[in-house]
Amino acid sequence: MLAANVSRRGSFASTNADSPVADGSPLVCGITHFALFIRLFASFNQVQMSTLASPTPPETMVFPPEQSKDPPALTDIQREILELKETRNAVILAHNYQVEAIQQVADFVGDSLGLSYKAAETNADCIVFCGVHFMAETAKIVNPEKPVYLPDLDAGCSLSDSCPAGKLAAYKAENPDLYVVAYINCSAEVKALSDVICTSGNAVKIVEKVPTDRRILFVPDQNLGQWVSQQTGRNMQLWPGSCYAHVLFTQQAIERVRLEYPEAPVVAHPECVQSVRDMADEVCSTEKMIHFCSNNPAEAFIIVTETGMIHRLQREIPEKTFIAGPTDFCACNECRFMKRNTISKLRDTLRDQKPEIIMEEELRVQAEAPIQRMLEWSH
Ligand code: 13P
Ligand code: SF4
Repeated sequence: MLAANVSRRGSFASTNADSPVADGSPLVCGITHFALFIRLFASFNQVQMSTLASPTPPETMVFPPEQSKDPPALTDIQREILELKETRNAVILAHNYQVEAIQQVADFVGDSLGLSYKAAETNADCIVFCGVHFMAETAKIVNPEKPVYLPDLDAGCSLSDSCPAGKLAAYKAENPDLYVVAYINCSAEVKALSDVICTSGNAVKIVEKVPTDRRILFVPDQNLGQWVSQQTGRNMQLWPGSCYAHVLFTQQAIERVRLEYPEAPVVAHPECVQSVRDMADEVCSTEKMIHFCSNNPAEAFIIVTETGMIHRLQREIPEKTFIAGPTDFCACNECRFMKRNTISKLRDTLRDQKPEIIMEEELRVQAEAPIQRMLEWSH
């Protein structure tokens, strides 16, 4: 959990009318039915709706400017990690959503695109990837000769899971002329079925490079795909997948924080639903959030993505204030998959040289071609 100043303001809203996926989820349907029951009960008893249908609002998490200019002292386990890293000649790559203790000992912290380049360029003997499974797989695909370790092999991704390779293969067999652009948040098997990979940082550029006479199928994120389609004017078929965490951000929840901080620009990840993207001042990848918040004159920003992002923002822009984008139920939004990696699992991984990403060479070769195409196209 991040350290924050917490203030409680605003009102509570309980539905997500934007995302077809989230709307259909049992959780949201359950809450909607509960709210309906409350409304019926309230009118039956002639009770004011506001007293029943407005449970305690989530508290706003505010991260004020960093007071200390000095980096925090390392803990024993962090020092142990740095020693093991030297012994193994390992490189530690960490995604922006990792816990702060991991970010502090990583050689590079970044978004999926930056991490892919770093993985392709490294001279280290082995890679320890602190992120989710598809990210470590990508590092393995571009580094066949090096061991790639992931501190917790169960660090998956709901978005990746929403596009099983068998279903994509069947759809492609029925529609053989499609050009498949795959968001990097997918399995190696899905990558192997794709023509080119993209990340949130380069998706617009990649789609603009696809020959105009080809029909595009964009997998697996319908929200990113819709945003890219709007940016490029390119009509695309969208796979009906989504990130379970990003679709929890709603227009109502973000509006509530914006009322508290009207001067703060809203910065949202393109995996968010359209009504959230529409109210954002900037829609961009996690890496571009750093540039936007550095260059924008505002003193405070509402960050609508996984809350771990705020560690990096605070480290790189210590003089500004960051406000965690809330959901309807919580003041922050953490990806349960990203958070499976812990500082002690990272130490154990370096010490024991496992768990390792293992991949069939035939699959690796097939998955490498669309990744290399992306790396070439996004220069
Ligand atoms: P970025 O590439 O923008 O860091 O996004 C990765 C991701 O998993 C978003 O949920
Ligand atoms: Fe996957 Fe969403 Fe987690 Fe990113 S935040 S790793 S897209 S589940």
